[in-house]
Amino acid sequence: MRIAVCPGSFDPATNGHIDIIERSALLFDRVIVAVSNNLSKQPMFSIEERMALLSKACEDIPNVEVDSFSGLLIDFAKQKKATAIIKGLRAVSDFEYELQMALMNRKLQPDIETVFMMTNSKYSYLSSSLVKEVARLGGCIKGLVPEPIEEEILKRLR
Ligand code: PNS
Repeated sequence: MRIAVCPGSFDPATNGHIDIIERSALLFDRVIVAVSNNLSKQPMFSIEERMALLSKACEDIPNVEVDSFSGLLIDFAKQKKATAIIKGLRAVSDFEYELQMALMNRKLQPDIETVFMMTNSKYSYLSSSLVKEVARLGGCIKGLVPEPIEEEILKRLR
């Protein structure tokens, strides 16, 4: 059984995240979406809310489950018997930091591979923080996040 971990802050998940999760689910037997509980800044959504929103968005993908982690990602991945960590890459600007983390994670745990997946071009400009900023300033975020997440963001800002 090939198990992959798909980590992130997911505050909240965007359609770019969901696209990567869906494509990962085609490549691995089991995909564990791992919501980070180590956020340094104040999140818009609590860990429980981020997990619930992701679970709803992924409910139709049978081999995807949502979990949370604190501490080192690589320790969580090992505990889950994952062989891969999946990261989405949007642009060259993502690359440098992601390469650094991939190499550090390999140093810590050589038998877990980081797999980079290229973003779907239609979501390449998306980020959770930009979506929140646009919504906060009254812009339209339709089509950028799953509908229930759009509703939750708007509710929070009302
Ligand atoms: O969605 P994000 O904010 O880009 O996700 C980043 C995340 C949570 C995947 C990354 O910061 C991470 O792996 N944090 C866990 C702590 C850890 O393992 N740090 C060492 C990385 S080499």
